[in-house]
Amino acid sequence: MFAHTLADGVEFRPLEPWQAAEFARHVVLVSDDIAAYIPWARTVVDEASAREFLEGYALKQARDEGRIYGIWVDGVLKGGALFRTFHAAQGVCEAGVWLASDARGRGLVTAAVRHMIDWAFGTRGMARVEWLCDPRNTASAAVARRLGMTCEGVLRKAFLMDGERRDVQVWAVLAEEWAT
Ligand SMILES: CC(C)(COP(=O)(O)OP(=O)(O)OC[C@H]1O[C@@H](n2cnc3c(N)ncnc32)[C@H](O)[C@@H]1OP(=O)(O)O)[C@@H](O)C(=O)NCCC(=O)NCCS
Repeated sequence: MFAHTLADGVEFRPLEPWQAAEFARHVVLVSDDIAAYIPWARTVVDEASAREFLEGYALKQARDEGRIYGIWVDGVLKGGALFRTFHAAQGVCEAGVWLASDARGRGLVTAAVRHMIDWAFGTRGMARVEWLCDPRNTASAAVARRLGMTCEGVLRKAFLMDGERRDVQVWAVLAEEWAT
């Protein structure tokens, strides 16, 4: 109902529990594209687990602690972006993204997160938007760089995934650095 146009035929809009079946189909389709870096790509496997995941975000949104949005290309869900965390009192939040491989290379995620950061700084008065990624994930780091974020360093062995303790690269942009 409330959509932001990212490009011709590309809509960015809320992703909610009622869309669990569509989200489940999407995650199953893109799992191989994103599972190396997205933990929930392996836990969202059917409508029930998709609903549980989206209900978690609905609850975060109700508490003003996170949000999730989808990217639809010609009416087909192809990816999305989220505030994995949102600490309004602290003024600090973390953005994240995923995209089917056939939707990459068009700047869709960069445009989506730019819109989210505009809202975080402009509407919500946040002070800092963070971006956390595996240093090996050069495509993700490139999005952070494209958004004008600064790489602030690496948290060594800070994230456990697939039994592997991984480094976490920390990127961030501050409100005073954000030019709309
Ligand atoms: C991270 C991920 C979403 C990046 O997707 P992407 O399409 O490369 O990201 P963008 O939307 O920023 O698009 C940038 C690409 O579009 C191109 N592009 C075209 N028009 C553009 C525009 N107007 N603005 C910006 N980039 C544009 C860029 O040149 C770039 O292509 P290149 O990598 O071939 O140089 C994708 O690799 C992915 O889903 N990875 C798996 C999940 C993941 O790792 N998520 C992040 C976890 S931290």
